[in-house]
Amino acid sequence: MARTAIYPGSFDPLTNGHVSIIERGLRVFDRVIVAIAINIRKEPLFSIEERSEFIRREFGKERVEIDTFEGLLVDYAAERGVSVILRGLRAVSDFEYELQMANMNRKLDDTIDTVFMMTEERDFYVSSSLVKEVASFGGKVEGIVPAFVEQRLVEKFSDTNQEE
Ligand code: PNS
Repeated sequence: MARTAIYPGSFDPLTNGHVSIIERGLRVFDRVIVAIAINIRKEPLFSIEERSEFIRREFGKERVEIDTFEGLLVDYAAERGVSVILRGLRAVSDFEYELQMANMNRKLDDTIDTVFMMTEERDFYVSSSLVKEVASFGGKVEGIVPAFVEQRLVEKFSDTNQEE
């Protein structure tokens, strides 16, 4: 039976930290479903279509599926018949939040397990929110996100800054 994991997140935008987790996830799992959360409480910078496109440009269709989900992650996982959630762990600061989520998810559905992968040292301080903040002030995010994401960030913020 093919081993499949769901890698959920906001991916707003995809960073090299995410890319590394997906690549390494593919060494352990046959397939990875990258599941973009539709979060009505968060105002994203990139649309779902843009975020999906970033992931698609980085990964082929064979072993990486891109999907979206709304509502509870465990419900989505059950719907997809997948019992493993993959998450990356960066610094200690991630730990409490991730532990809370993993425990809550287990409480909601104990047939679903969360598997953590340590982020590479290089990506330890990389987060989508920091990337957006740096890019919004014209800072360089080269090497932190894929080149096409960097390009789109530059375009996005030059549009926004011109509008103001
Ligand atoms: O990339 P992020 O923003 O850290 O991802 C967080 C995400 C989307 C995985 C998390 O917020 C989530 O699972 N949201 C779906 C709603 C849900 O199931 N909430 C309960 C989790 S304890």
